[in-house]
Amino acid sequence: MIVCVCKCISDRQLRAEVRAGADTFREVSRRTGVATQCGRCGSCARAIVDDAIAEIAVQAPLAGGMATA
Ligand code: FES
Repeated sequence: MIVCVCKCISDRQLRAEVRAGADTFREVSRRTGVATQCGRCGSCARAIVDDAIAEIAVQAPLAGGMATA
């Protein structure tokens, strides 16, 4: 789904940037240009990025595997 019409940015692109290491909306915006023109997409884009960041945070402890003593 296209989130930002001005920059033609999809929700998939926003989520991909979070998976690639962007950990704030500002960083995702810097990388993609989302919400940097008219700004109408800002709240929707931020919600998607926040959701993606939360998803990563939940998965992170699981990705570390089990500690061994
Ligand atoms: S729709 Fe994203 S900046 Fe205009």
